[in-house]
Amino acid sequence: MASHQLLVTPPEALLKPLSVPSRLLLGPGPSNLAPRVLAAGGLQMIGHMHKEMYQIMDEIKQGIQYVFQTRNRLTLAISGSGHSALEAALFNLLEPGDSFLVGVNGIWGQRAAEIGERIGARTHQMIKDPGGHYTKQEVEEGLAQHKPVLLFLTQGESSSGVLQPLDGYGELCHRYQCLLLVDTVASLGGAPIHMDQQGIDILYSGSQKVLNAPPGTALISFSDKAKNKIYSRKTKPYSFYLDMKWPFSFLVELPGNGPLGSGSSASQLLSTELPSPGHWPSENTQ
Ligand SMILES: Cc1ncc(COP(=O)(O)O)c(C=O)c1O
Repeated sequence: MASHQLLVTPPEALLKPLSVPSRLLLGPGPSNLAPRVLAAGGLQMIGHMHKEMYQIMDEIKQGIQYVFQTRNRLTLAISGSGHSALEAALFNLLEPGDSFLVGVNGIWGQRAAEIGERIGARTHQMIKDPGGHYTKQEVEEGLAQHKPVLLFLTQGESSSGVLQPLDGYGELCHRYQCLLLVDTVASLGGAPIHMDQQGIDILYSGSQKVLNAPPGTALISFSDKAKNKIYSRKTKPYSFYLDMKWPFSFLVELPGNGPLGSGSSASQLLSTELPSPGHWPSENTQ
């Protein structure tokens, strides 16, 4: 067997300990982590099939059910950024030829529409100037005209700073046999959300915005109606990794949770101080 010399030498920089400057982060995220979250990130790995891991995943699921205010069983954390949850929602819900209605009042609607087009869905964009939100009347017109199977709205449109009202939109969608998908990446923890009471069928968020955890974990939940749509698909979703029926369905259907990248990111998210929905200023004054 031929012997080979190393053509690539070890990089100088990696021979030294990693150096990360201490900076005060005041942007929308990521931001400086709370000591409790930092400490959780330094915990040792455990195996993904260890019973303690199942318990941690189950507790994460309960945490997500709490912040989303949902009892949905199909509720899980995904290893990936907010974009991965957006893709998980669209890859699982849409099939080629499905009618898909998208509120485009900023870049997140644009991206949802782009993914819908890539899937081959008949994608209808309700385009609005940045700064606007969708009234129920506008949504109803879109539902009546396009008869979509899915409507996408962004609760906190971070590119324009708009907070989309959500009360009554789920009920409206269901009257038209349409499912409601809501992006709360920028708003979860900063604005009230009540997934079940608002009739939202698919809700997702990210870890590094208001929740103040490290980036790389996405949260997502599917209602029974959404789950039925996934289970009655005629075609397989294009993504294998994000397919909710395979290979992780055995995990999400059990008391445990779905895919998680590492025990540490799980613990970090778990130990984040979650807001209490009863303590929203707007709710206390109602
Ligand atoms: C409203 C909204 N949706 C989705 C995303 C995408 O999240 P991520 O950057 O974690 O992929 C962002 C990120 O800024 C966002 O603000």
